[in-house]
Amino acid sequence: MARLLTLTFLVLATALPGALAWGAMGHETVAYIASNFVSSSTQSYFQSLLGDTSGDYLASVASWADSYRYTTAGKFSAPFHFVDANDNPPSSCGVDFSRDCDAEGCVISAIQNYTRILLDSRYSAANRVIAAKMVIHFVGDIGQPLHCEALDVGGNDIDVTYDGDDTNLHAIWDSDIPESISGGSSMASAKTWASTLTTAINSGDYKSQASSWVSGLSVATAASQQATALQWASEANAYVCSTVLKGGLSTVQNKELSGAYTTAADPVVKLQIAKQGYRLAKYLDAIVAAI
Ligand SMILES: *[C@@H]1O[C@H](CO)[C@@H](O)[C@H](O)[C@H]1NC(C)=O
Repeated sequence: MARLLTLTFLVLATALPGALAWGAMGHETVAYIASNFVSSSTQSYFQSLLGDTSGDYLASVASWADSYRYTTAGKFSAPFHFVDANDNPPSSCGVDFSRDCDAEGCVISAIQNYTRILLDSRYSAANRVIAAKMVIHFVGDIGQPLHCEALDVGGNDIDVTYDGDDTNLHAIWDSDIPESISGGSSMASAKTWASTLTTAINSGDYKSQASSWVSGLSVATAASQQATALQWASEANAYVCSTVLKGGLSTVQNKELSGAYTTAADPVVKLQIAKQGYRLAKYLDAIVAAI
């Protein structure tokens, strides 16, 4: 009975809205950055597939997967938003695909699966629309350190306060910290923040590193799709040890994190959003080139 209750609790806990990935604004920012870097053939391909010729064609669908997972039809996709790295932060971090991605699937296998569907012309346009929305969303999710961590349901069970409000560690990484940087939760905030990060990639702080972000990126085979996603997950997961839980659980649990903690988190959040946006552009380019 105790076991059953624990299981029921876990199932409920992972179904709570608090388990969403980057909030909508973070996903939209990743998508707007990607729209700034895709090739013109990638832009035409996805504007036509998604039936949206506006500049928002990626950003408008970037959070669809977070609504879908709470529908009866989409419930199966809930485990696709994260990978439960069973590591031991802050002393040791790491993602092990065979240990951490079980039969239900995880964000790594999901990126592989929906890439495969996009590349296979036997699937209907309707299936490829869903696959596109999934890839656009999960390439964002996989950059959020707490989406690549099992501990306390990816930090959902770690109570913290933010600006005096009761919340949890996962939620502040999804939304509060990104919104404190961009200045809001709207699509307009996302667009403005994306433009700042795009400039940083083109001519600012990230100029010298952007090419390294996409080294090894490949959609050529199922194995290379999986290796690409695993590399992204491992990188995000490393920040759980170096930043998210740097001082150990006791330094965050029931603490107010809008001050020094957020100051330390800021550069990581900016980098991860910029990186995943740039990677999404190059990943979609690679898909379109292989279709
Ligand atoms: C792949 O995607 C399809 C379509 O959404 C889904 O039915 C299937 O469960 C997915 N498979 C894996 C291994 O993720």
